[in-house]
Amino acid sequence: MKCKLGLERCPDDILRCFPRIEQSFGVVIFGASGDLTKRKLIPALNRLFEAGILPERFFVLGAARTNMDDEEFRSRFEAHPDFLRHCSYISVDYQNLESFKPLKNTVDDLMKKIGSSNLIFYLAVPPDLYIPILENLSKAGLNRKPARVVIEKPFGKDLESARRLEDTLQKHFQEDQIFRIDHYLGKETVQNILVFRFANFIFEEIWNNKFVDHVQITMAEDIGVEHRAGYFENVGLLRDIFQNHMLQILALIAMEPPSSFNGENFRNERVKLLRSIRPFPVEELESWIVRGQYGRGVVNGKEVPAYREEPGVAKDSNVETFVAMKLFIDNWRWSGVPFYLRSGKRLPKKITEVAVVFKKIPHSIFAGVPSDELEPNTIVFTLQPNEGISLEFQVKRPCPGMFPQLLSMDFRYEDYFGVKLPDAYERLLLDVILGDPTLFMRRDDLEVSWELLDPVLKAWENDPVRFSPYVYPAGTWGPREADLLIERDGRKWRKL
Ligand code: NDP
Ligand code: BG6
Repeated sequence: MKCKLGLERCPDDILRCFPRIEQSFGVVIFGASGDLTKRKLIPALNRLFEAGILPERFFVLGAARTNMDDEEFRSRFEAHPDFLRHCSYISVDYQNLESFKPLKNTVDDLMKKIGSSNLIFYLAVPPDLYIPILENLSKAGLNRKPARVVIEKPFGKDLESARRLEDTLQKHFQEDQIFRIDHYLGKETVQNILVFRFANFIFEEIWNNKFVDHVQITMAEDIGVEHRAGYFENVGLLRDIFQNHMLQILALIAMEPPSSFNGENFRNERVKLLRSIRPFPVEELESWIVRGQYGRGVVNGKEVPAYREEPGVAKDSNVETFVAMKLFIDNWRWSGVPFYLRSGKRLPKKITEVAVVFKKIPHSIFAGVPSDELEPNTIVFTLQPNEGISLEFQVKRPCPGMFPQLLSMDFRYEDYFGVKLPDAYERLLLDVILGDPTLFMRRDDLEVSWELLDPVLKAWENDPVRFSPYVYPAGTWGPREADLLIERDGRKWRKL
């Protein structure tokens, strides 16, 4: 069947299906000497360029403290030479207003050259620099519409600092100028949760507490803290993963259908769902949330050091690299259904998976096969890698008896569409350039997730001995206590 673009098959490079941007634009990247710019932002913009999506006239201006010239800046990236011709660099001191005067002159000149007012400021810097940069942009008169500002997680450290950041943002920019990135919302497979749920009829009827026994979300990484100890030591896994990616995935799995998939309707439903999560009982937190930290171990056949032995990590660090939690959503649809969430670094492999586990059959008619022993039906969204959806169900084994066996019917993007999925940053940068906020977070998204997690963080902070993380050997699925969290309820984590 042909798609809406009239194609029988998806092209190998799916970006070719995206509409070409007509209006010229400029992006100023603060922190352009850093990791995010090198690993994600420039490669994504370069891919959009190579796919022919970017207009003829655009510029990328790197801005950071490091002294370098345009050539040196360009030489940091592996990108198409024609794309790199659009890139230049200016040194700025983020905290010094004087430094924003030459920046403004350069931006004005570049904007004149491309003949457009479509301007984006991307803050790819450590979060404590957000407020000084936003204030200096405003003082330099660079905050005027239609300029947009993109900020990266973590959005603050807690509810109070998130509110301070938001107040600064809203003092200097209007809401339609602010793009808060959670790159998980840019992942094709995360968006596919919405299509699966709301473009199919048969699943909606069973997507509730009458049929669903529980839901498991796992975001596992085999890597450790790598070179990001400076960042991670101040943040920890709960803030790094749960405050944003994990809660957003949960919201998409559990939210009510919005009346349409546009910016506000979709975002309203997401926030409504997050508001329905039951607050954690702080007095018995251990029964709801397990904190872990990796010790030495073996990952992918290689011996790796403990978190506390990583460069830049304090020898007595209490920062968690693993969290497992159980939560409830207090609304009609999900009342009584536990959601088990876990994420960690230095687990056996990289995988992000959501499993919606249905109830067991009430009674088995097959002699010698008690209903309890029959694995339940499960719908599994594999968000990465090997992206796809599976449905697990029982079939009769081809033998004389009536012996059921669980099997999995799998859809894999790559097998079916034969394409490599675009990187989340490619999609999100495109949306920023086009000014579409649908896949971005709103102030209330952030506030509601901090309201949920803030009491947990405060409890951990106030009683570091009681909440000291359990050590798990690198290369395992976290501490034993994480297993007990789910096993106490008569369930178990899926084997991944
Ligand atoms: P980096 O640590 O690489 O920092 C980016 C740049 O900021 C550096 O090159 C440096 O540039 C400047 N900088 C760093 N520390 C300071 C400091 N103490 N004072 C002043 N300037 C400083 O960060 P990333 O690129 O990894 O991340 C940027 C933002 O994106 C962060 O908010 C991070 O949380 C977020 N993020 C990053 C991801 C990633 O994969 N890297 C993923 C998701 C979010 P210079 O010295 O030249 O000014
Ligand atoms: C980032 C976190 O937001 O997401 C990192 O800061 C984590 O700690 C990364 O490694 C995981 O993203 P992805 O897309 O590789 O699953």
